[in-house]
Amino acid sequence: MTALNCSDALGGKDASSQPAALEATAHLAAWADINLLHLKHNYEWLRRQAGVPVMAMVKANAYGHGLIPVATYLQDVVRVDWFGVATPDEGARLRQAGIKRPILVLGGFWFGQEESIVHYGLATTLPDPAYISALEQAAGRRGRITAVHLEVDTGIGRLGLSPTQLDAVLQALGRCRHIRLEGLMTHFASADVPEHAEFTREQIKRHWSVVERVRAAGWSPDYIHLANSAGLHAFLPAAAGNLVRVGGLLYGIAGDALSPVCPPPPTRPVLSLHARILGLKTVPPGTPLGYGCTFVAHRTTRVATVPLGYGDGLHRVQSNRGRALVRGRLAPIVGRVSMDVTMLDVTDIPDVALGDVATFIGAQGGATISAEAYAAAMGTIALEATTALTARVTRHYVT
Ligand SMILES: Cc1ncc(COP(=O)(O)O)c(C=O)c1O
Repeated sequence: MTALNCSDALGGKDASSQPAALEATAHLAAWADINLLHLKHNYEWLRRQAGVPVMAMVKANAYGHGLIPVATYLQDVVRVDWFGVATPDEGARLRQAGIKRPILVLGGFWFGQEESIVHYGLATTLPDPAYISALEQAAGRRGRITAVHLEVDTGIGRLGLSPTQLDAVLQALGRCRHIRLEGLMTHFASADVPEHAEFTREQIKRHWSVVERVRAAGWSPDYIHLANSAGLHAFLPAAAGNLVRVGGLLYGIAGDALSPVCPPPPTRPVLSLHARILGLKTVPPGTPLGYGCTFVAHRTTRVATVPLGYGDGLHRVQSNRGRALVRGRLAPIVGRVSMDVTMLDVTDIPDVALGDVATFIGAQGGATISAEAYAAAMGTIALEATTALTARVTRHYVT
């Protein structure tokens, strides 16, 4: 196994809990607290660590944290350098909400969406050379110059031009009067996997050789960017370029997408997930619980029902597997998670009462369920688990 070139030793992960803010959520039955102070802390640490501007990734509803409130706070209070989104529609929504900072659409656009790119002054990648003329024409019609960041596929094999397409694309861009080559980027496939460190180094090497080719052809893009969270964590300074694109670490949830060889970063979890106990009952041994009767009480069981189900993003695969904290102690999910409600076994937790808060992600009474542990019970990563939280979960912003 090759040793990673880790960023500074960073000390232990700060697992400080979210402020409870219970008064403000007293009227809510299920909600996610979004701790904006932790978001600020994370961004500021990332900015210092990277030593270059940071693009805050807010795609997919800011990884489930809420696109507009998160972006507005990041712009107005934290003063971020850049925003990254996946689609023109996400970029348009940011502009409509008053976001003025530069926005890069990383997933490019489909024919027709170039109008939105130009109208809202978004920078974009180009998933294929085929889109160049549509973008040039749309920008020309409006008398605008649109910024493009060319993504070069140095090893991830999904979006991005292959290095062999580069010369033709540069020639095509050279004929455009309304497109400016603002950036040159690549994306890492495996920067979190220590065994793949050599592969990531090869991606970095390929990218810098592309940069040289582009410069030799007379272009001077303002931004060269490579790193995501895992790249920033394990491959600075080689992967710093002069911009980094960070999502997971910004939200303090990339623990399972980071190299285990490097010290954990001191980022703090931004999101916690809670629901109140709406119903409580005691059932005798032999009582089946929930759809499909997949759980049968083997003892006299105290069952608490909370209003959080797969309609909220608590995946059904958590049935009989996941857990929540009640009165600071772990309560297992019993029976199937249904669309709107989930049952917890609170038999071993004294004095549980209606209205008690069950914490599915976050800290309570000195105990913590990390987003990573919550996600593990769904067989996935924390990034997917927070992104999966639906609009029905009220986001409560804590400052
Ligand atoms: C092109 C690109 N850059 C950066 C990121 C941010 O990655 P992370 O959330 O791991 O920091 C993503 C996220 O998927 C991405 O697709």
